[in-house]
Amino acid sequence: MAAPIIHGVRTVGVLGAGQMGLGIAYVSALRAKVPVLLLDKSKEQVSSSLKFMDKLLAKDVSKGKIQDIEAKEARDRISVLDYDSHGIEGFRDTDMVIEAVSENIQLKRTLFKSISEAVNPDCIMASNTSSISITKIAAATIPEGVSASSEQGRKYAERVVGLHFFNPVPVMKLVELIAALQTSQSTLERARAFASACGKEVTTSQDVPGFVSNAVLMPFINEAIMTLEKGVATKEDIDKTLRLGMAHPMGPLQLGKRPDFIGLDTCLAIQQTLYQGTGDSKYRPSVLLERMVDAKWLGKKSGKGFYDYQ
Ligand SMILES: NC(=O)c1ccc[n+]([C@@H]2O[C@H](COP(=O)([O-])OP(=O)(O)OC[C@H]3O[C@@H](n4cnc5c(N)ncnc54)[C@H](O)[C@@H]3O)[C@@H](O)[C@H]2O)c1
Repeated sequence: MAAPIIHGVRTVGVLGAGQMGLGIAYVSALRAKVPVLLLDKSKEQVSSSLKFMDKLLAKDVSKGKIQDIEAKEARDRISVLDYDSHGIEGFRDTDMVIEAVSENIQLKRTLFKSISEAVNPDCIMASNTSSISITKIAAATIPEGVSASSEQGRKYAERVVGLHFFNPVPVMKLVELIAALQTSQSTLERARAFASACGKEVTTSQDVPGFVSNAVLMPFINEAIMTLEKGVATKEDIDKTLRLGMAHPMGPLQLGKRPDFIGLDTCLAIQQTLYQGTGDSKYRPSVLLERMVDAKWLGKKSGKGFYDYQ
C-alpha cells in the first residue's frame, strides 16, 4: 500500500490578516494543529482580526464544538510577526507560506518574489487568490537573470500553488487547488494534504481566470448587480427571488454571503481579472459595482455595501 502523503508543514506563515488570512490562520492552528506566523502591514487589522479570532474560539467552545483546552492551544499556536522589524524575512523557517493579501496582481507578484528570497528551498508558496493566474505569480519567484526553464529557475516556480479557501474559512468546507504550469506534483500533493489537515474537501481546477468557483459565481453576482442597476427589482426582491424561487441558501446581493460579504473591492478585482484575462464581455463588471467601490462602500468589512452593517 502506498504511504500516505504528508504535508510536512511544521510551521505555516500567513501573509495578510484580513477576512481570509484570519480564517486560514484559524483552521491551520485549530484543525491542522500547526504553529502559525501571521503578518500584515496593518497593525489595526491584526489587532481586530485577533479579537475576532478570540470571539470565534469562544463561540465554538460555547456551542460545544471544541473543548476549552483545544481553543487555548489553538490560540497559543498563533504568533504575530511585526511588519516593520520582521517583514517577510520572519517567514524564514516556515515550511509553507499562504498569501492572502488584497486581490492585486502587482502586489502579489512583488510579495512572492520577496517570499521566495526569504524562505528555505522546500517551502511551499501558496496563494489564496480568487482569480489571478498562479502561473504569473509563480514566474515572479524566479530570480533576475535565472532562466525559467533552467533547473534553478524551476526549483523556485515549482513550489508555487493556488490554495483557494472560501469565506468564512472556518465554516466553508472547500479548498480549490490550482496548479500553475510550473507547479510540481510534490507541491500539489503536499498542499492538498495540508488543506485536508485543515478539515477541508479539495477540488482541483486549471489555472484559468477565476478557476471554477469565480468563473461561475462572478457572472451570477454581476448579473444580479446589473438587474439592480436597471431597476428591475429591489435588492431585497432580487435576493428573495433566488432564495425562495431557486432554493439558494442566500441571495446574490445579500448579507450572509455574496458581494457584501466577499468585499466589493475584491469582487471588482476578480471581475476585472476575468474580463481582462478572457476578453469576454460576459465578465464586464457593472458600472454600479465600480461606483460603489469608488465610494469606498466595500460591503460588510467597511460597514456599508448593498446593505448596511452598522
Ligand atoms: N473575501 C472573500 O470572500 C475571498 C474568498 C476567497 C479568496 N479571497 C482572496 O483572498 C485574498 C484576501 O482577501 P480578503 O477578503 O481577506 O481581503 P481583506 O481586504 O480583508 O484583507 C487583505 C489584507 O491584506 C493586507 N495587506 C495588503 N497589502 C499587504 C502587504 N504588502 N503586506 C502585508 N499585508 C498586506 C491588508 O492590510 C489586509 O489586512 C484576496 O486575494 C482575495 O481575492 C477572498
